[in-house]
Amino acid sequence: MSIGIVGFGNMGRAIGQSIASTDLWEVTAYDNYKVKTNNLKKIKIVKNAKELILNSSIVILAIKPHDVGSFIKENSVYFLKNKPTLISIAAGITTNYFQKSLKGIKIIRVMPNLAATVNESFSLICKGTLSKKSDLDISKKIFSQIGQVFITEESYLDKATSISGSGPGYIFYFMDIMYKSALTLGFNKKIAKKMVAQTFFGTSKLAKSSEKDFEQLAREVTSKKGTTEAALNTFEKYNLSSIVKEGIGNSYMRAKEISKIYTKNERS
Ligand SMILES: NC(=O)c1ccc[n+]([C@@H]2O[C@H](COP(=O)([O-])OP(=O)(O)OC[C@H]3O[C@@H](n4cnc5c(N)ncnc54)[C@H](OP(=O)(O)O)[C@@H]3O)[C@@H](O)[C@H]2O)c1
Repeated sequence: MSIGIVGFGNMGRAIGQSIASTDLWEVTAYDNYKVKTNNLKKIKIVKNAKELILNSSIVILAIKPHDVGSFIKENSVYFLKNKPTLISIAAGITTNYFQKSLKGIKIIRVMPNLAATVNESFSLICKGTLSKKSDLDISKKIFSQIGQVFITEESYLDKATSISGSGPGYIFYFMDIMYKSALTLGFNKKIAKKMVAQTFFGTSKLAKSSEKDFEQLAREVTSKKGTTEAALNTFEKYNLSSIVKEGIGNSYMRAKEISKIYTKNERS
């Protein structure tokens, strides 16, 4: 089976390199910007989208949402000729949008995250109206190469954008606060970065391996009048939890806005 990837930026490259390393599929890529597709092992680079679409049984669309409309317009004729399954990872663009522009093509929509770069993504997958269970199965197999997958209804994809999709950005933000606090305390940059990254990594591993919920785990690590409690009381005093909840709510609203902006054609 041949898989073509359109857009070889952060996500396209991460997905392409992972799936090519398995030798399960022939992988082809195309990107506007040639340098990004240089020096790649086991990935065939093609000169244009036409060649990729006409020679792939699955096309993974990994370009920015604002580039999707023109890409589909320019290339729909090749999709309709070869009829590959289209897997889109573009945030906010619905399966219905693709279904209306590419009549008869099977569509799968996926929301991965940046941890795909180290094969630790959490990817939510849903199907369009024409896709079958076998299309979900093959998508699951592909995205399992870059981390964990969860098959769900499409209504959850924009919601997931505000949790797992944008989540790495929130976590880097919190890591940066801890890193800068470590510098203030006198640690050098190298140690401070290692200390923070390993604390997140170890805590995440602990949380994943435990049946307990996060609240209970936090309670268990917080002794009365201890050092953790001193920090958590301060976070509570300034209502950090409602600030974070509001931020996530705004992220979800933005995902819905993007969806409206880029898929408005589907209502016309
Ligand atoms: N990054 C994340 O954390 C994340 C998480 C979940 C989902 N996503 C989704 O994944 C998609 C890709 O995101 P990204 O961060 O990988 O973006 P990116 O790094 O900007 O990569 C997109 C690449 O596609 C190229 N491109 C644009 N139009 C093209 C066309 N018509 N044909 C071929 N190549 C084209 C771009 O080239 P130019 O720069 O020259 O335009 C760029 O190299 C987005 O739709 C995003 O919503 C991203």
